[in-house]
Amino acid sequence: MRVGMLTGGGDCPGLNAVIRAVVRKGEVHFGDQLVGFRDGWRGLVEGRTQPLDVSHCRGILPRGGTILGTSRTNPYKLEGGVGEVLRTVEREGIDALVAIGGEDTLGVAHRLAAEGLSIVGVPKTIDNDLSATEVTFGFHTAVQIATEAIDRLHTTAESHDRVIVCEVMGRHAGWIATYAGIAGGAAEILVPEEPFDVEVICEALKARHAKGRYASIVVVAEGAVPVAGTLEVASAEVDQFGHPRLGGIANVLAPEIERRTGFETRVTILGHVQRGGTPTAFDRVLATRFGIAAIEAVHEGAFDQMVALRADRIVRVPLSDAVSELKTVDGELLHDVAASFFS
Ligand code: F6P
Repeated sequence: MRVGMLTGGGDCPGLNAVIRAVVRKGEVHFGDQLVGFRDGWRGLVEGRTQPLDVSHCRGILPRGGTILGTSRTNPYKLEGGVGEVLRTVEREGIDALVAIGGEDTLGVAHRLAAEGLSIVGVPKTIDNDLSATEVTFGFHTAVQIATEAIDRLHTTAESHDRVIVCEVMGRHAGWIATYAGIAGGAAEILVPEEPFDVEVICEALKARHAKGRYASIVVVAEGAVPVAGTLEVASAEVDQFGHPRLGGIANVLAPEIERRTGFETRVTILGHVQRGGTPTAFDRVLATRFGIAAIEAVHEGAFDQMVALRADRIVRVPLSDAVSELKTVDGELLHDVAASFFS
């Protein structure tokens, strides 16, 4: 078979491990010819391909990013975009596509499957907010990076008796904030799922410091929002999928904490450092398992489906499930586990 592959949306540690697994199993086991499409759906719209065989995948397992490039292009938002995708598939003689991406990329894959394309999806996102799979690769790496950063922030915060507000990624779900906050011993964790009241946070910090603690780390997900009317936050520009470009809530929160508590407060925004660099062993293994399962799904004609992890088994679920529901942070984890350390 001639199998096309693309990576869409934000890059994520482990993408190259998926690519390597699909190519290796496809070429060596099934005798496939793989074709890479550049920069997500944009490569299919513009007909830009890249050769992809076992030799191109040597050494990429530990490498972050994606050798195929990525973008947030949505063919459904471009005049004639879908027609171009279908023409590219026809012209390149592609029998099936493996689309690796998050909710947006997989949403497009599902719609294109309805247009007649044979597509298998592979879920990815550092945000871990896809409900169809128990975990996505990239999340573990992002949590590890954020936790190491919080560990470092503790020692400098303690030396200066400061509060440090550490902003992590997480647009709609606070998984990274919750995991890294628990692992790093945060004094407060703020997530998009539950609007925060800055006054309540400040009272908690004052109570904590009154008990003899003079430093606190507040972990805030970039998508966390204040309770309506409590704090002014500027609105952000949106991408082709309608998502706001976030980042910066910590810059609003920190001066407010300093003003209300009198504690010197600093900001650290981790940003893209959470997405870059080498994947953890866990993410390499999960990504490799997903890649192998995806090319097997192609050969079994399991189209309009994606691979997923459930109870440590790789299963197939309809692509529509990938976009139907957001996986938000478990309240028990936040209230029973994380909050036990907030005072
Ligand atoms: O989708 C994953 C993610 O890392 C989000 O956590 C974040 O809001 C977004 O991507 C950032 O996207 P970009 O790199 O396009 O600014």
